[in-house]
Amino acid sequence: MSVSAAEAAEYHSKDFDWETLRQEIENDPSLSYHLLPFVSPQPEQQVSKDPIKAWQSFHIQHSSGKFFKERRYLLKEFPELVSCGDGSKVLEVGCGNGSTALPILRGNDKIILYACDCSNETLQRAKEFVVASNVASVEHRFRPFYCDFATTGFPKWLGCDYCRENFGPKDPNCISDVREERTLETDSQSMEEGSCCIGGVDFITLIFTLSAVPLQIMPTALKECFSVLKPGGILLFRDYGLYDMTMLRFEPVQRVGFREYMRSDGTRSYFFCLDTVRNLFVCAGFIELEIEYCCVKSVNRRNGKNMQRVWVHGKFQKPA
Ligand SMILES: C[S@@+](CC[C@H](N)C(=O)[O-])C[C@H]1O[C@@H](n2cnc3c(N)ncnc32)[C@H](O)[C@@H]1O
Repeated sequence: MSVSAAEAAEYHSKDFDWETLRQEIENDPSLSYHLLPFVSPQPEQQVSKDPIKAWQSFHIQHSSGKFFKERRYLLKEFPELVSCGDGSKVLEVGCGNGSTALPILRGNDKIILYACDCSNETLQRAKEFVVASNVASVEHRFRPFYCDFATTGFPKWLGCDYCRENFGPKDPNCISDVREERTLETDSQSMEEGSCCIGGVDFITLIFTLSAVPLQIMPTALKECFSVLKPGGILLFRDYGLYDMTMLRFEPVQRVGFREYMRSDGTRSYFFCLDTVRNLFVCAGFIELEIEYCCVKSVNRRNGKNMQRVWVHGKFQKPA
């Protein structure tokens, strides 16, 4: 059994109680700076690194693909990706080098997977990993494209204005597979004249991507996801949870907002509590299906230290 298959087999999500962790953290004076309201620095002191450029540099620096780790457990958390019908369309947002894309393609050979990222470098790596995987007819089913979904939005070929506004029963005049072969799209907004969109997607996976988007533009980013989902479609969410050990490692100077931090390379990370996730999704129009903390204990292989990982798991539906 491969390491990731073994991880999936052993997958567990309730190793400790989040409420107990919360009390420990909130009573620890050395961590109190994480709880303080955030005071915006004066404009001249503000750190203004473009988050997209930061991710692009990150992927260039880590182009060896060393960070690639297939998220096999995803199919356990989101079994609808295995059971969904033939030709279901899935959009993986912020696909990185394909850690989420590959297990989805592997787990269901009838799925068509669109995958976007704001870095062409990582899209190239994702393509290489996926092609090397020997998954059935993957070259036709994996459709990577460039886009900054939070600022410029998704390309019109994914869901045109007409479809986005009138999503209801399929309009046969508007649904076609034109342009699906286009990959590594750089002009994310354009749609060739006379061509038509794919009519939206059945599922969106947003896995450790929303936390990378600045908090103030998360509402726009989620509305954009909502707009390209078919009615009844489901957004599958997993991301960093409040008081995850990686949050507690950030220094006071790395705070750029309340529960929002910037790494030295300019990439950002937000840590979600359940209420924040709930509010963001409900305000974007979604119905909450599932939301909970996953609390997993693991041991750091290098120093033997215990690590308490916290993630938020959620499923949100677009009304039918
Ligand atoms: C932590 S990685 C998650 C990758 C992948 N979803 C996974 O499961 O491993 C976050 C990814 O989001 C991408 N990203 C960040 N902001 C983005 C944006 N506004 N539009 C598209 N991709 C973005 C980054 O380039 C990065 O590859």
